[in-house]
Amino acid sequence: MAHVSLGMPKVVISVSGLGKRYGATIAVADVSLEVHEGEIFGLIGPNGAGKTTTMECIEGLRTPDSGTIAVLGLDPRREAAALQQRIGVQHQEAQLQKRIKVWEAIDLWSALYSRSTEGEELLARLGLEAKRNAWFMTLSGGQKQRLFIALAMIHDPEVLFLDELTTGLDPQARRTIWELITGIRDRGKTVFLTTHLMEEAERLCDRVAIIDHGRLVEVGTPADLVARHCPERTVVVTSDEIGPGRFAGLPGLRTVTGDGSVYRLRGEGEAFVTQVINFVAKEGIRITGFRSEVPTLEDVFLKLTGHGIRD
Ligand SMILES: Nc1ncnc2c1ncn2[C@@H]1O[C@H](COP(=O)(O)OP(=O)(O)O)[C@@H](O)[C@H]1O
Ligand SMILES: [Mg+2]
Repeated sequence: MAHVSLGMPKVVISVSGLGKRYGATIAVADVSLEVHEGEIFGLIGPNGAGKTTTMECIEGLRTPDSGTIAVLGLDPRREAAALQQRIGVQHQEAQLQKRIKVWEAIDLWSALYSRSTEGEELLARLGLEAKRNAWFMTLSGGQKQRLFIALAMIHDPEVLFLDELTTGLDPQARRTIWELITGIRDRGKTVFLTTHLMEEAERLCDRVAIIDHGRLVEVGTPADLVARHCPERTVVVTSDEIGPGRFAGLPGLRTVTGDGSVYRLRGEGEAFVTQVINFVAKEGIRITGFRSEVPTLEDVFLKLTGHGIRD
């Protein structure tokens, strides 16, 4: 999944000091970020964090109270018409008429743009060719979302915006969509997406920005954020023959909890797992269970915000 780019990345989206309030509600406060050409960039945070507001200000659909935004060098409000030809947008909880057919939607959307791609080929790429005569209301959740991706891409945009695209889908449909989005990125497009699913962000995004209560908390690759904020590793060892004191002298060990037979060993850094293996082997400790827990973006979120993503 790692995305390799040589030299300085080209900045496609640039946001500086973005602020937006609704009455007394501060939805977004002082958000600054840059999105590079050809990456999947994820804005991640819980419901109400300000993801949709940030995204819609960048798309030119909402007017910010403060800050500056440039997308492909254009001002999303003053140069909206030019920008709409070059970006594709899928909205959170989008809907179509129940009885519009898939091909009719594709035709209708094609007519909106001066440039459009081959609709049939797009349907095939998104695995919808067998559904071209189906009514919108008969599509599954995953098929509907794939149709919305097709509609957002009908004019072959350079930047694609996807708001909570996989919310409510089953794991299989979600995985299919992750593959599609990765394929879109691999054809050189830039993808800006929002999600409150940490696993999705971790699997799909080249870089993520964590947003909470309208403020950016951190930006980086998922691996960097985990390494920086959650360097600790936990190894869970099962052994009936020993007590917790048996692990004294284990290199890198911070704490041991558990007694009886299951021990949770916590240490620092990736090397800790190997250190436990070497120690157990050297000391000839007979173990009946071994498992390591690798921290995830979810742990990073908890550490940085003090609360869980679903709280
Ligand atoms: N049109 C609106 N009018 C009033 N409040 C809004 C509106 N849109 C969003 N909000 C509020 O702004 C905050 C951020 O919302 P939103 O940007 O939708 O967050 P997210 O997409 O992360 O769930 C929330 O408190 C939400 O209730
Ligand atoms: Mg939202």
